[in-house]
Amino acid sequence: MTSSLQAAMGMVVFAILTLATTPAFAQGAAQSGAQASIKRGEYLSKAAGCLGCHTEEKKGAVAYAGGRGLKTPFGTFYGPNITPHPQTGIGQWTEADFLKALRHGKRPDGANYFPAFPYPSFTGMTDADMRDLWAYLRTLPANAQPSRKHDVGFPYNIRFAVTFWKWLFFTPGPFTPDPKATPAVNRGAYLTTALGHCGECHTPRNFMGGPKRDRFLAGGKGPEGKNIPNLTPARLKKQWGDKELSDFLSTGLTPDGDVPAEAMGEVIRNTTGLLTPADLAAMIAYLRALPEIADEKK
Ligand code: HEC
Ligand code: HEC
Repeated sequence: MTSSLQAAMGMVVFAILTLATTPAFAQGAAQSGAQASIKRGEYLSKAAGCLGCHTEEKKGAVAYAGGRGLKTPFGTFYGPNITPHPQTGIGQWTEADFLKALRHGKRPDGANYFPAFPYPSFTGMTDADMRDLWAYLRTLPANAQPSRKHDVGFPYNIRFAVTFWKWLFFTPGPFTPDPKATPAVNRGAYLTTALGHCGECHTPRNFMGGPKRDRFLAGGKGPEGKNIPNLTPARLKKQWGDKELSDFLSTGLTPDGDVPAEAMGEVIRNTTGLLTPADLAAMIAYLRALPEIADEKK
C-alpha cells in the first residue's frame, strides 16, 4: 500500500468512526446537560420554598401535589397540585406557560394569579433558573389529587381585580445586580428577594396587601397578623455574629437554644437550612448590607 492510499484509508476510517460516535456522544452530553439542569432545578426549588406551599401539611402527603392552606387577611388560599399530571397538575403546560406564570403571574389562559403565589418575588428569577426549575418539576411523579378551591370571599376572589393590584405593586422582570455591591452581596440579594421571598413575611403590607416598599424587610405585622422581626441592621439580632445567624438559619436554634415560631421554623426546614454554605453566607452578607430601618412605631 502506498502511503498516500494508507492516509486516505485512514481518513475514511476516521470519518466513519467520527460519524458513528458523534451523535451518541452528543446525546450523552445533552443527557448530562439535562441531568445537571434537573439537579440545579431541585436546588432552586428548595431555595425558593416551592415544596412547602405546594405540599399538604400532614404525614405521608405527596410532595408538590398541593392542598397546603395559606391563611391571609383575605381568606385561605391553597397551593395547587404542580406535578405533571395532565388533569390535576400542570402536565399540559409548556415551558413558556411556566415562565409566564413565574415572571408575569399569569395563567396559561391569561388570567391573573393571586399574589398569595409569590410571583412578585419570583419574577426576579433569571430565565435560566426558571428553565431549570421547570426541568426538575417535569421529573416528579404525576399525582391525581385535585387542587383545592381557595376559600376567599368577595371581592378578593376576583382574578380580574388583581390587575389593579399589579399596577400598584408588581414590577415584572429579572433581578438586576447592583454594580456597586460585591458578588456575594448580589448573590445574597438574589437568594433573599427573588428565590427566598423573605419579604413576603418580613416586609409589612398596607391595607390592600401591597408591600410597603419604603419598609423593605423592616418587619411589622405579618400575613397572619403576628409580629415579624425587622431584618435590617437596625434590629437584626445585633448581638448575633455571622456564625450565630448562620447557625440559626441552618439549624433553627438560637445561641441560647430557643426555637423560632413555626412560620420561620418551616422556612428554615424547607429553605435556608438546605442552602449551600456559600449561599447562606451570601444571604447573611446581603442582610448585613441592607439600609438600616428602625422598627415602626406602634
Ligand atoms: C407562599 C406560598 C407559595 C410558594 C412559596 C410557591 N407557591 Fe406556587 N402557588 C401558590 C398559590 C397559593 C397558588 C395559586 C394561585 C392562584 O390560584 O391564583 C400557586 C400557583 C402556582 C402555579 C400555578 C398552578 C396552576 O395550576 O395554575 C405554579 C406553576 C406554581 N405555583 C409553581 C411554584 C413554584 C415553581 C414555586 C417555587 C419557585 C412556587 N410555586 C412557590 C403558593 C405558593
Ligand atoms: C412565612 C413567613 C416567613 C418567611 C417567608 C420568612 N420568615 Fe423569617 N421569621 C418569621 C417569623 C414569624 C419570625 C419570628 C420567629 C420568632 O421570633 O420565633 C422570623 C424570624 C427570622 C429571623 C430572626 C430575627 C430575629 O431578630 O429574631 C431571621 C434572621 C429571619 N427570620 C430570616 C429570614 C430569611 C432570611 C427569610 C427568607 C429566606 C425569612 N426569614 C423568611 C417569618 C418568616
